Amino acid sequence: MDENWIDVGAAELLRTQTLQRHKVGRLEIALSCVGDKFGAVHNACNHAGGPLGEGALDGDYIVCPWHQWKFHRVSGLGEPGFEDDRVPAFPVKVQSGRVLIDINNATGRHRAPHAPHPLARPIVRGDGPIRVAGLSTTAMDPQAPRYSGSDDLLLSSLKAATDDGCDTRLIKLNDLKFRACEGYYSKSAHACTWPCSITQMHAGDELDAVYEALVHWADVVIVSTPIRWGQASSLYFKMAERLNCIQNQVTTHNRVMIRNKVAAFIIVGGQDNVQGVAGQLLGFFSELGFHFPQFPFIAHSRGWSAEDMERNVVAVRDSSALHEGAAELARRAVELSTRLLDTAPVVKLKRGGRKAHGTTTD
Ligand code: FES
Repeated sequence: MDENWIDVGAAELLRTQTLQRHKVGRLEIALSCVGDKFGAVHNACNHAGGPLGEGALDGDYIVCPWHQWKFHRVSGLGEPGFEDDRVPAFPVKVQSGRVLIDINNATGRHRAPHAPHPLARPIVRGDGPIRVAGLSTTAMDPQAPRYSGSDDLLLSSLKAATDDGCDTRLIKLNDLKFRACEGYYSKSAHACTWPCSITQMHAGDELDAVYEALVHWADVVIVSTPIRWGQASSLYFKMAERLNCIQNQVTTHNRVMIRNKVAAFIIVGGQDNVQGVAGQLLGFFSELGFHFPQFPFIAHSRGWSAEDMERNVVAVRDSSALHEGAAELARRAVELSTRLLDTAPVVKLKRGGRKAHGTTTD
């Protein structure tokens, strides 16, 4: 095609930054300069459209600021092994102290197929009995495990569900190695992806077990937590931040992934603030799209002045009322799940999520 060289600025000035996002008319480029050699590639990353010009350089590769895919700053080719995944690259020259790019002769963009992450599969409930996932959020030393009241009550819930013919699965966050949320949403709402950006980038991250259970496998989720300084456990919050990608799909893609699922909670604290913890859990799981049975949590606390924690442990362990309550909690949740699955196989929402963006959800 005929050359069409566009002046993008003074070379002396543009040399002062090794990488920058630059506008050329309506076109956005990632302009780089290393050792006096300029490169110009399209600003939009192949993965999810991240702004390459706002990334960093690793040698001659631009590292996307959203999820760290790499593209050669001059050729636009993906990093070694992924050369077929390329972004448009523009011819560049310096003439009379000006940097010029030929916008008519860019190389083509090519998105090489990447095997989808297993979590990205369609969400389809398989046949079979009601499936109940127990989610333990208490933290403890795995080498020297101690008795946990919240875990013990969770086991009573799962036992009741098993006895009633449900499939059950116990997930202990304490057994999983997973990273804290790194705030992709703060880079851009669209940088926060499903499956979670961290899950996709780091094969060793084990929170996929939780995503699998919540999004694909379970009909009922029972979350147990201790009370720590008036709040749910630190592991609960570490998980909750990572679950933001599920809630964020409603915001960014009008996509409700949690449908006709039920959540219930077990809250155990030596001291106070059962209602505050319950409020947090209910608020967050409602944002994900869960339903709640009537009386959606059970709890135990001996009150603010009870500092003799060992007595609290004994009180939970030996309380038939609490263990029966945990069993009944599971039954209430399963009963609601059964009704939801019987009567509402697909619920079309007109507005999704608290912010209620858009007009319909899929
Ligand atoms: S790596 Fe660039 S948008 Fe994800």
